[in-house]
Amino acid sequence: MYNLPTLEATREITSIAVLTSGGDSPGMNAAIRGVVRTALSYGITVQGIHRGFTGLLQNDIEVLSSASVSNIVQRGGTFLKSARCPEFHDPACRKQAAEILHSHGVEALIVIGGDGSLTGAHLLEEETGVLVIGLPGTIDNDIFGTEDTIGFDTAMNTALDAIDRIRDTADSHERHFLVEVMGRNSGFLATHVGIAAGAEMILVPEYAVNIAEVALQLATSRKAGTGSSGIIVVAEGNEPDLTSKIANELQQHGLSPHISILGHIQRGGRPSGHDRVLASCLGAVAVEYLLAGYSDIMVGVNKGEVVDIPLDDLIRYRKGLDPELLKIALQLHK
Ligand code: F6P
Repeated sequence: MYNLPTLEATREITSIAVLTSGGDSPGMNAAIRGVVRTALSYGITVQGIHRGFTGLLQNDIEVLSSASVSNIVQRGGTFLKSARCPEFHDPACRKQAAEILHSHGVEALIVIGGDGSLTGAHLLEEETGVLVIGLPGTIDNDIFGTEDTIGFDTAMNTALDAIDRIRDTADSHERHFLVEVMGRNSGFLATHVGIAAGAEMILVPEYAVNIAEVALQLATSRKAGTGSSGIIVVAEGNEPDLTSKIANELQQHGLSPHISILGHIQRGGRPSGHDRVLASCLGAVAVEYLLAGYSDIMVGVNKGEVVDIPLDDLIRYRKGLDPELLKIALQLHK
């Protein structure tokens, strides 16, 4: 699927740890398995940390064997569990985390999570010297430096499965539906879902739209007989109740859209084949990068190649949504 880097082992590592952090994503289990089995093949001991950085601070660590990761590649979620850990913003907590890792003889930590978790990982290495490698694990696909993230493909297909069903009833009853998808303040998931679902409209935080114009467009195509029903994909954004507010505004312009919020269903389920292969490769290559002398990097994908991106870049730059992609999406539904 991807071109993998050729890396030469130059560094001796005997013990690593792995954790999953932030919102879970389908494929995290496959990534852990990739890390564990690859590390064991080099004679490296692997410790699994439960519940992300929260579990690390609570010293909740177990040694993982090859059998620990049997029968998980096909499972959604993360068997190590995950958590958001606001305490990790505190440098004192990061120092404590490094001490706990040292007490277990851990030389390097592999962190699978979103940009917040990978920022924490970068600060841990910068301040304490613990070697870290990050893997992009989020359904949002909003991490700078990588075109793909573990879980994005599965979440997109889960959302599509739901929208295809919604379209059947929308069509039968000649209704418009606002379908809210996740993505926090990124419209990446919404745009891809919108294109694949043939959505009549896609609303994302990156591009402000005038709701009156949206209403006019929908009303015009309804009158013209080309749009008696329709799907409007809405990225959840950072604003509470955004989709209800849009529905209210559309109502003021004569439409009566129904709302369907897909929510956490997008985070669960068996990972797609794509996500399993991506996660397995990234997990394996993370160990190879470590042995080749790298750290403070994320292993991601760029132009079909598995590449390393300095974790520092994730903090400095934001992944932008290509306006051309959105343009294509909107052209296609006409
Ligand atoms: O970052 C992944 C994500 O699923 C976002 O799309 C969403 O906004 C957020 O996590 C929800 O987080 P939680 O499950 O903690 O409410």
